[in-house]
Amino acid sequence: THMHEENSLIKPKIVALFGNPVKHSLSPIMHNIAFDELKMNWFYFAFEVDKRKLEEAITGIKTMDFRGANITVPFKKQVCDFVDRLTNEAHFIGAVNTIINNEGELIGDNTDGFGFVRALIANKLNIENEKILLLGAGGAARAISYSLMKNYECDLTIANRTLLNAELLTQDLEEVTMKNIKSYPLNEVFRIISNFDIIINTLPVDPPPRIIDSLINNSNTCQIFIDIRYGKMLSKYFKALEEVDIKTMDGKTMLLYQGVLSFEKWTGVKPPIKTMKRALL
Ligand code: ATR
Repeated sequence: THMHEENSLIKPKIVALFGNPVKHSLSPIMHNIAFDELKMNWFYFAFEVDKRKLEEAITGIKTMDFRGANITVPFKKQVCDFVDRLTNEAHFIGAVNTIINNEGELIGDNTDGFGFVRALIANKLNIENEKILLLGAGGAARAISYSLMKNYECDLTIANRTLLNAELLTQDLEEVTMKNIKSYPLNEVFRIISNFDIIINTLPVDPPPRIIDSLINNSNTCQIFIDIRYGKMLSKYFKALEEVDIKTMDGKTMLLYQGVLSFEKWTGVKPPIKTMKRALL
């Protein structure tokens, strides 16, 4: 198209990834393959940043006129202090995963939650009026719960090991959404597990075995079980759920759609999702 020809005549545009470590990140290949397919003169580079040099790296986005950046472990929280402005999402979550350089103004955004919602939509899952259970009350749970409650009328319960942390998150959510949200102790929630349509595990560990056992041994309404991690560790309990016809989804889909959303924010263009997905798999 005209825009792409024009792009190749002007100087290349650069998007950076800052983290430590970044070696194993799948984001560079996912974005570069999309730039390539759209014949855009854009490049995505990963930079391993020294913990004490984060502010300098962020300033470098302006100095070197990068179009933006992704921020990953361990800098997502700290980087909030070094951008010019936070979006509502990033402010609520208290973490930035995407920076957009808008003519010298650095906007700190977070696409994790809306990426998650996009992943649900892409998989044709109904969210409106559904009963949703979130396991965990950390950063990922904050991002996901915020985008769910902001976009849908759904009935959300947050279960957590430390009940107080679930209560603090539901309070914050109720304040910004004016909706009613429930909290529950993680070790008790198996008792009411058959009520939920969508269950999301944001814990760094497998969900409590009693939750899985209850789902397998009792009739339930669960249409999908989502774990935001990915890798071989999921296969055992995912397989058990699939055997009783509960669908499963892992964190790769979420990773894909947070990337899609970031791509759209930097470029204003819709990326080739299938190609990006292939790069991840
Ligand atoms: P993330 O940003 O990836 O969500 P986090 O902010 O460190 O990670 O949040 C970790 C979440 O996992 C918390 O909800 C934590 O529960 P507590 O609030 O009780 O700490 C939960 N978590 C971590 N390890 C856990 C474990 N072994 N069993 C159950 N819950 C665990």
